[in-house]
Amino acid sequence: MRVLVTGANGMLGQDLCPILEDNGYEVIETNKNILNITDSKATEIFILEKRPNIIIHCAAYTNVDLAESNYSDAYAVNVTGSEIVAKAAKQIEASLVYISTDYVFDGTKNSPYLPSDIPKPINNYGKTKYLGEEAVRKYCKKYYIVRTSWLYGHHGNNFVEKIISLKDKEKILVVNDEIGCPTWTVDLSNAIIDILNEPYGIYHACGNNSTSRYDFAKEIFKQLGIKVNLVPCSSKEFKLPAKRPKFSVLGDNKSCRNWDKALKDYLNLRID
Ligand SMILES: NC(=O)c1ccc[n+]([C@@H]2O[C@H](COP(=O)([O-])OP(=O)(O)OC[C@H]3O[C@@H](n4cnc5c(N)ncnc54)[C@H](OP(=O)(O)O)[C@@H]3O)[C@@H](O)[C@H]2O)c1
Repeated sequence: MRVLVTGANGMLGQDLCPILEDNGYEVIETNKNILNITDSKATEIFILEKRPNIIIHCAAYTNVDLAESNYSDAYAVNVTGSEIVAKAAKQIEASLVYISTDYVFDGTKNSPYLPSDIPKPINNYGKTKYLGEEAVRKYCKKYYIVRTSWLYGHHGNNFVEKIISLKDKEKILVVNDEIGCPTWTVDLSNAIIDILNEPYGIYHACGNNSTSRYDFAKEIFKQLGIKVNLVPCSSKEFKLPAKRPKFSVLGDNKSCRNWDKALKDYLNLRID
């Protein structure tokens, strides 16, 4: 089975590609230089020439806060780019895996979001990712939409690394009114491979059990054995350009381990 991965240089892509290879897949890794998904003609030519059986579409505009002032840039990658990839996948009858996000939901529910719940994003990143989902569904019938959340991995900027970088501060403010499911990119990669054996459709894949950002930070320092002054605050006090959903727990979750167990393995493999 030949798998083409878009955004292979990203945080997820860098863990996903070797795990695919370990599972016997032939992997075509692509990054923005080889395959810029906003270039319609070049993307079509590239995908038609390579003829993968599966495309795992990880490329995205992922800066949630910058997307608030750069909607058109986020739209170009997350919506138009996904549409271009979906049309090419359709032409060669490849299966398409689109990695999506908990931020497609508004966070007002008080039980876990199911794949069948209707998205209602509250920031530009979430809006463009949801429109990307719609483009995939419209142009390619052989799709897997895999929504994940609060990703961290060894090859990218993420909450875990950000929090650890603050360890010498006198106090560290962390919001306690955002609840979600932290997910290690390695666990997500394995879940994606499992999902490839399931029927086409929408899936949720994230760390099992949920936590607040504050308790997540607390667990990170507890596991590292580092004493810090963590101070809980509300998201109103911790102002960021993009609104975040207060509760974005994904239910009906596929194949990932409890988030605190995965965190332990991640921290053990981490090089300072
Ligand atoms: N990180 C999270 O917490 C999170 C949560 C839920 C879902 N997701 C989704 O998971 C997927 C992977 O996220 P990630 O954290 O691995 O993101 P990432 O590290 O930002 O990787 C995204 C990759 O896409 C590439 N890219 C951007 N524009 C492109 C273009 N026009 N053509 C080709 N490639 C392009 C980026 O390259 P450059 O760096 O060179 O621009 C980058 O390598 C994304 O779909 C994201 O929306 C992420």
